[in-house]
Amino acid sequence: MRQLIIVGNWKMHKTVTETLEFLVELKEKLSNTAVEVVVSPPFTALAAAAEVLKGSPIALAAQNMHWKKQGAFTGEISSAMLKELGCKYVILGHSERRQYFSETDDHVNKKVKSALESELIPIVCVGESLEQRETGATEATVEKQINGALAGLSPEQAAGIVIAYEPVWAIGTGKTASDEDAQQVNGYIRKVIACRFGNTVAEAVRIQYGGSVKPANAQGLMAQPDIDGALVGGASLKMHDFVGIIQNVL
Ligand code: G3P
Repeated sequence: MRQLIIVGNWKMHKTVTETLEFLVELKEKLSNTAVEVVVSPPFTALAAAAEVLKGSPIALAAQNMHWKKQGAFTGEISSAMLKELGCKYVILGHSERRQYFSETDDHVNKKVKSALESELIPIVCVGESLEQRETGATEATVEKQINGALAGLSPEQAAGIVIAYEPVWAIGTGKTASDEDAQQVNGYIRKVIACRFGNTVAEAVRIQYGGSVKPANAQGLMAQPDIDGALVGGASLKMHDFVGIIQNVL
């Protein structure tokens, strides 16, 4: 059985003060839950978040990293730095990184390998644009992204990662993929992983859905056989909504 994993990707939201206020309350509300809960504040709030989350089951994720371990890369942050801060996960290849910061599958692959070397668990984001969906290119798009991101990984490494299927047209738009559409793509991703790494790995990998997840649609999505959690953007910034999503899928 794969444990559900709900991750709140805060993107460029919340100062350190706002992070602390939010997490003190979240910790009280979620002291005991069967779902794995992860929050991903901006880099500036990670150290404070790690401190306040000590001893709680809520884990921490970073939103990005560079693949180099150290060096002359002004403004960048390495996997080793994130590990030392207390991060368990790192979100890689988010469509906003691909769209606004020109990240390629090759960059994502280098980051995945660097994260694994530092014992961080990558949450690898994949998903098609509206145009790709409308032209029937959804499966080819996610297959290329998965194969690119996971190139060169051993089956053992692949089994431990998390994948987030986030159709770009559903991110921040209020348009969620239907339960059936999301299940269809998540199931396809599992098949791609089975082809490359075998059935045991494919059965172990957790595949989330992301894109306008909210309390009202979380239950239907998470009930699908190949949807093992959610990567939540906007709704993870509001206590009522984030807790509502977690409670609705229990
Ligand atoms: O990574 C989460 C994300 O991109 C989805 O955002 O606001 O549609 O839940 P949102």
